[in-house]
Amino acid sequence: MQRSEAGVPVLISGVSKTFHRAEMQTQALGHVDLAVKPGEFVAVVGPSGCGKSTLLKIIAGLLGPSEGKIEIAGNVISGPHTDLGIVFQSPVLLDWRNVLDNVLVQIDLRGGDPDAYRERAMMLLAKVGLAGFENRMPRELSGGMRQRAAIVRALIHTPPLLMMDEPFGALDALTREQMRIDLEKLWLDRGQTTFFITHGISEAVALADRVVVMTPRPGRIERIIDIDLPRPRNKAVINSPRFTEYCDEITECFMRHGVIQY
Ligand SMILES: Nc1ncnc2c1ncn2[C@@H]1O[C@H](COP(=O)(O)OP(=O)(O)O)[C@@H](O)[C@H]1O
Ligand SMILES: [Mg+2]
Repeated sequence: MQRSEAGVPVLISGVSKTFHRAEMQTQALGHVDLAVKPGEFVAVVGPSGCGKSTLLKIIAGLLGPSEGKIEIAGNVISGPHTDLGIVFQSPVLLDWRNVLDNVLVQIDLRGGDPDAYRERAMMLLAKVGLAGFENRMPRELSGGMRQRAAIVRALIHTPPLLMMDEPFGALDALTREQMRIDLEKLWLDRGQTTFFITHGISEAVALADRVVVMTPRPGRIERIIDIDLPRPRNKAVINSPRFTEYCDEITECFMRHGVIQY
């Protein structure tokens, strides 16, 4: 399968968002334009509060933009849509269902037949190192394992778009590195369009085809950097001078905005 066949194009045109609450107005997002190619892996980095989660929710149709529009595979988004997978920072598993049933809840919710997806669920769980844990309850798992289950749940229905909002933010550094490696494998296998929000600069460079650097609130796109590094992004790639140059370029953007001060 061609990678691009499994992903959809996402077009963000002139999107901004202002929240109104009582007399308070917060402009969360400035004017954002971005065309994401089918199957592309885009990482968005930006300081806390710059509107990253707001942008993700607008793309998912969970929030309406104040201005502009989102088109996914040519369709203008006007409300929540289901042809996507989302992973949040905390995994939100159902305490009373085991790992396998937590994955299959995605199929239940869509009115599908969970039995038809059992084999695929087992295959994906094995890919993220959860073979043998299918029958465990969420409370029996580490934070990293719970997040792995949440990632499998987001992918079980083979969505053409995967959106992740700081999915590894609550994990320790070693687990985070392994999750990054496993996520790249899952993406290389299938090539769903992926929108990955992080405030980890090296994580963004390690994963993405393009890194979108956001300004402080109201978030606008400051720079878009093509990451021309071979895949898989193994130790040699991560340790290469080119990798460090990309990270430096992003750090400098943040220094210019006072987000990072030495
Ligand atoms: N529902 C809301 N109502 C009012 N303000 C909000 C709401 N959601 C987010 N904001 C504000 O919008 C800004 C951007 O938030 P968010 O998108 O969560 O940022 P990020 O994910 O980049 O940290 C913040 O100042 C936040 O307080
Ligand atoms: Mg956020």
